[in-house]
Amino acid sequence: MIETIREHILQVENFTAEDKAAVEAFRIKYLGKKGLLNDFFAEFKNVPNEQKKEFGQSINQLKQAALHKVDSLTKTLEHNSEQEGVFGDLTRPGEPIELGARHPISIVKNRIIEIFSRIGFNVSEGPEIEDDWHNFTALNLPEYHPARDMQDTFFVQTDPDVLLRTHTSSVQVRYMENNQPPIRTISPGRVYRNEAISARSHCFFHQVEGLYIDKDVSFADLKQTLQYFTTELFGKSKIRLRPSYFPFTEPSAEVDVYWGLETETDYKMTKGTGWLEIMGCGMVDPNVLKNCGIDSDEYSGFAFGMGIDRIALLLHQISDIRLLSENDLRFLEQFRSVL
Ligand code: DAH
Repeated sequence: MIETIREHILQVENFTAEDKAAVEAFRIKYLGKKGLLNDFFAEFKNVPNEQKKEFGQSINQLKQAALHKVDSLTKTLEHNSEQEGVFGDLTRPGEPIELGARHPISIVKNRIIEIFSRIGFNVSEGPEIEDDWHNFTALNLPEYHPARDMQDTFFVQTDPDVLLRTHTSSVQVRYMENNQPPIRTISPGRVYRNEAISARSHCFFHQVEGLYIDKDVSFADLKQTLQYFTTELFGKSKIRLRPSYFPFTEPSAEVDVYWGLETETDYKMTKGTGWLEIMGCGMVDPNVLKNCGIDSDEYSGFAFGMGIDRIALLLHQISDIRLLSENDLRFLEQFRSVL
């Protein structure tokens, strides 16, 4: 009898099953009410006393082996069927792929690039870490100019010649140094200023610089170009140019777009005037052309510069500039449908 039990133990240990039904049949055979184990337990009383100990141990061993086998086979089969569910059933509906969203800064930047590329402007870029020449000196910014104040500029380490560019006008200089007119280029990029962070201003933001240099370029060309731009971007064609001052342009102007006074938001945005300031511009100062190796007797041109962040806030009715750099998915996901 003990021999028979030992054989069963071996059989149990070597048992394998293809499916759950086979495991269940195995379980009933050994552990069921009318199973072999109960038969062996019933046999116990007939076993001679001196063999009882060994016999008892064998049945327990068989019981443990059967329980363990049922348990491990069930687990393996469940695991396999899960895998089959994921990879095996090709008729299942596809997993939806989450589409990303473009950042509002990129959306606005791409629109600006697209609008200017239609009238022959290419895109140029320059470094964010600049030197004094490209950010200030070549742009006719005299040494005592307040924009050079430590308060506005981030210097890299203690070297006053290495700084984070405070505007994308530095790319104008680089472009003119490396290209001869005719020049039509826009330069989008990130700029840095040491300003207190609030809902309205940040210590880094984005600008697009525009530059047009050729023979006989006039202020009328500038105005027409800007009017085309505001019509395309905002759907507003009424603009005005207010005299202003920039060291790198002469004459210089601020550009306002007539936004209208139809809604309460229009009132708030335009402080009740209906006009919204969107950029600075002017005719490139002959000194700047000279600094960049362009003959100012032969060539003239215009330049302009605008903040992308501000335009993004305007166009998408975003209330706080800080949202643009916090990478909060709840904010970013809202731009999914915008290209
Ligand atoms: N660089 C100026 C700024 O950072 C913007 C600007 C004004 C750029 C007039 C120009 C310009 O090219 O002509 O505020």
